[in-house]
Amino acid sequence: MNKPLDTGLPSWEPGAPSYLALQDGHQRQFSYLRLSITDVCNFSCNYCLPDGYQCETKQTPISLKEIKQVVTVFAQKGINKVRITGGEPSVRKDLVEIIHTIKNIPGIQTVAMTTNGYKLGEYIGPWLDAGLDALNVSIDSLDPRVFETITGHNRLKEIMAGLDKALELGIKTLKVNAVLLKSYNFNEFERFLNWIKDTPISLRFIELMETSDNREYFHANHVSGEEIQQRLEKSGWIQKVRKKNAGPANEYLHPDYQGSIGLIMPYSKDFCTTCNRLRISSLGKLHLCLFGEGGLDLRPYLMPGLESLLSDAVDKGLQTKPETHYLQSNNTGTTRHLAMLGG
Ligand code: 5AD
Ligand code: SF4
Repeated sequence: MNKPLDTGLPSWEPGAPSYLALQDGHQRQFSYLRLSITDVCNFSCNYCLPDGYQCETKQTPISLKEIKQVVTVFAQKGINKVRITGGEPSVRKDLVEIIHTIKNIPGIQTVAMTTNGYKLGEYIGPWLDAGLDALNVSIDSLDPRVFETITGHNRLKEIMAGLDKALELGIKTLKVNAVLLKSYNFNEFERFLNWIKDTPISLRFIELMETSDNREYFHANHVSGEEIQQRLEKSGWIQKVRKKNAGPANEYLHPDYQGSIGLIMPYSKDFCTTCNRLRISSLGKLHLCLFGEGGLDLRPYLMPGLESLLSDAVDKGLQTKPETHYLQSNNTGTTRHLAMLGG
């Protein structure tokens, strides 16, 4: 049963009811929120935005004030980790303030962000000073020309220098995301592994997901998670025992390597049973699944004084979180590309 949550935090006003913990109708509890702060991206990854970002709405993205309010309510409901996503979050001029604001909300322990690394070298110092704890950088190729073919930008060298700087500045958690693609970078598999032999990075191989915009590309480039898994095991990588609430990645370690590997296999059978995440889009919609329909509009409640209405709307919405995404049956919901929601 879903119980009132004792977060140890003050409720909104004396005598106000304590909020319910975030639990869906399938007994999954949520402590992790992915918050997209913009759907704009300056890259044009060929599996995501092959023609670059196209502006599709006149609506403005959620403001700093709205971000503060929504995260405060979610923190009171048990969220302790927020990942800032995009599009590309660093296109927002107030990113440093956003990180600082989220980090200072009572109950939030970890502020993470996913970036394409375009501004990493320039801004990693201010991001860390503002309170960023963890960073995921997407790097789909270690070959500058292939990197440019996939992303549309000749920026690999600068991004790698940015990673070094992040490590030098003592970032707590640094991960690199790579989507393996049959006709572009799958032949770099060994090269990726060699890279983390002496580099203490957690490398995440993400299985390519089908969206409604990339159907043909998907069928030409999808590499199955099982195939990646078999190659890792052949090279002596050992899967760690999965902890409860560990999130979606299968973690692998190797005694000869400083880095580690996380394998994200959205097509595997039990992927959704460990789902511990909720998503909010840059237009303030709560998405219960990356591949769900529409999303629940929270924006009407993002105003001072409407906190308990916001909380009630979220509780109601959560009961409709589907058990699984049905990706295996080629369902892509209304998700045209992942820049809409930040993955
Ligand atoms: N399939 C798998 N991963 C994707 N990403 C973006 N689109 C897709 C897709 N269709 C990844 C990006 C980034 C992360 C946020 O999501 O490469 O690393
Ligand atoms: Fe590439 Fe991410 Fe931008 Fe999509 S949102 S184009 S995956 S950097």
